[in-house]
Amino acid sequence: MDSKILEKSTLYSAFSELGKRISLPQGIFYWSGRAKKEAELNGTIGAAYAYENDFIKDGQSEWLPCYLNGINEYFKNLDINDLVPYTAISGISELRDIWKNWIIYKSLLNEKEDKEKLDRLKKYITTPIITTGVTNGIFLICSLLLNANEYIITPNKRWGNYDNIIKGFLGAKIKSFNYFREQQFNFEGFEEAIDEVAVVQDKILILLNFPNNPTGHVPTKEESLKLIELLQAKQKEVKKPILVIIDDAYEPYIHADNVINRSLFYHLQDLEENIIPIKLDGATKELLLYGARIGFVTIGLKPKWTKNDKELEILKNEIDNKLSGLIRSTISNCNHFYQALMINLFNTKGSEEILAMREPVQNLLKERYMKINSELKKIKNPNISVDPNSGGFFTFININPDYGKASEFAELLMTKYNVGVIPIEKPDENVNGIRIAYCSIDITQIPEIVKRIKNALADF
Ligand SMILES: Cc1ncc(COP(=O)(O)O)c(C=O)c1O
Repeated sequence: MDSKILEKSTLYSAFSELGKRISLPQGIFYWSGRAKKEAELNGTIGAAYAYENDFIKDGQSEWLPCYLNGINEYFKNLDINDLVPYTAISGISELRDIWKNWIIYKSLLNEKEDKEKLDRLKKYITTPIITTGVTNGIFLICSLLLNANEYIITPNKRWGNYDNIIKGFLGAKIKSFNYFREQQFNFEGFEEAIDEVAVVQDKILILLNFPNNPTGHVPTKEESLKLIELLQAKQKEVKKPILVIIDDAYEPYIHADNVINRSLFYHLQDLEENIIPIKLDGATKELLLYGARIGFVTIGLKPKWTKNDKELEILKNEIDNKLSGLIRSTISNCNHFYQALMINLFNTKGSEEILAMREPVQNLLKERYMKINSELKKIKNPNISVDPNSGGFFTFININPDYGKASEFAELLMTKYNVGVIPIEKPDENVNGIRIAYCSIDITQIPEIVKRIKNALADF
């Protein structure tokens, strides 16, 4: 949104550089707002929705945001001390420990236990600090690492809010690369981006997100090994620290067998090189509590940085102090109620039962994922391609820019076919396509939505 009237005012003349630079991009809100009013089939909403009786035994037929079966109990009977007081700046220590144990527990879910690696994980990751959702975690960690005008590498298809935080807020720069090449992660583009940044900076910052928003991509096991080898080789070559921020917002939603089924954080943490992983989590999608606004930042430290356990503890405290300084100077501390709720949940249910509570929603999303991909395969049109996708909430259809602009296609879909999608158009970064949020489309509607997309393409 521009600020034409505001810019002429005395108020604007008093704005800081940040005040002048920042704005709320209207794209997603514009399309989802219109879809709510105009579309019969709405694929714009990035939250998991379903008929309650499809994910809750004995649920109603109401269309609702998906939630953990049994979570309602935790909204009742909280002690006044769990509601009213401030929490510690970096979060309630009991929840921080619970989340650290949860991270350790998840490291073993799909992997044979390797005692040495497990001990190292337990010892060398920081105790997560609590943030206001993943968004705030991205903001805090980027504030910690990025000066204005410095680069962070992240692919051309990414969550749009990265741009608001990195460019809009911090005045830093994004070194973008084309995410895919021949339907695979684009290693060449990624490597080039690292090379270019290594020339101008003493550190390489990378921000990755799997399952990805907007594509749904998760690296295959081969891709992930290649990615790690590439990072190792580059670190040796450029001899600069490589910090890899892993946005794990959609971590549990893996829908295919041939892709990695745990966060890339774990593998990066095992590496000896100065490849420093930073894990960003949120209760938001992981525990289906969007409104809770609880997230976590966890940093993987390297054994060679400290001489003994005492030094390691001091190092952790010093990192904590830095992050706490950032929290204190921005949000002061996070929501008490939901931290208390999560403590109660973990203490009464335990990790295994929490996984079981979430399973119906995971299954439901997986069924939709399979359905939408099998339907999309039926569209034979050389002007479109579907990005590799194996997890998360979304799928992305590229439209050949010579065929037409994604926003014009979305307009046609909305006005003539009553289908709402989010167009993403970034000509400078080779992005022209539509994101379909199957997380909020019932499976029975998927064939129809794809049929309408197919017809609209013929009509475009
Ligand atoms: C990739 C990605 N990261 C982070 C977020 C934000 O998470 P939160 O709501 O916990 O701030 C989203 C939300 O859409 C997202 O898609």
